[in-house]
Amino acid sequence: MNIKLEDLKPYLSEQLIQEKIKEVAEKINNDFGNEHIYVICVLKGAVMFATSLVKHLKMPLQMEFVRLSSYGNSTSSSGKVNSVDISLPNLNGENVLIVEDIIDTGLTAKFLTDFINSNFKTKSTKFCSLLDKRCCRKVDIEPDYYCIEVDNKFLVGFGLDCEGYYRNIPYIGYVEM
Ligand code: IMP
Ligand code: MG
Repeated sequence: MNIKLEDLKPYLSEQLIQEKIKEVAEKINNDFGNEHIYVICVLKGAVMFATSLVKHLKMPLQMEFVRLSSYGNSTSSSGKVNSVDISLPNLNGENVLIVEDIIDTGLTAKFLTDFINSNFKTKSTKFCSLLDKRCCRKVDIEPDYYCIEVDNKFLVGFGLDCEGYYRNIPYIGYVEM
């Protein structure tokens, strides 16, 4: 698939995305107060969301990055989560906030939450997603925080890619299949 920028239909504006991120950050600030958290950003897709989100967080925090993939170059989940790099510090006794771009089948969320909870005895493990594609869930998992619920469309922009492209677009569009 080779899509052109002009084929992208606008879906979520930059302003809406930023407003919703601020709202979720306020919830996280209220829930954690001044407790330290580890923000685990799931690369590559969550990079834009994570950097926007942490700017609004007020508690002491440290950022870690893991790299997982489940879509490859396709427009639907392969059904298998591939961990490319999952090196993490000792998270025993820590508040962990996993930050993802989108929760779709839920496989990635489940894989990473299970990985962290089976390797560490955290104080808390929470999952925060920019987008929730609730209609496509295959495993029973809900994000603790999410910004925007979305329809079953292939979305591109603000970190979400199409064959590696368009992560840099500041809004989110969709591709008509
Ligand atoms: P899940 O494991 O099926 O929940 O999928 C999560 C991952 O699939 C996300 O981290 C994204 O990288 C990717 N993904 C899901 N939906 C889309 C989409 O609409 N556009 C681009 N990537 C997506
Ligand atoms: Mg992702």
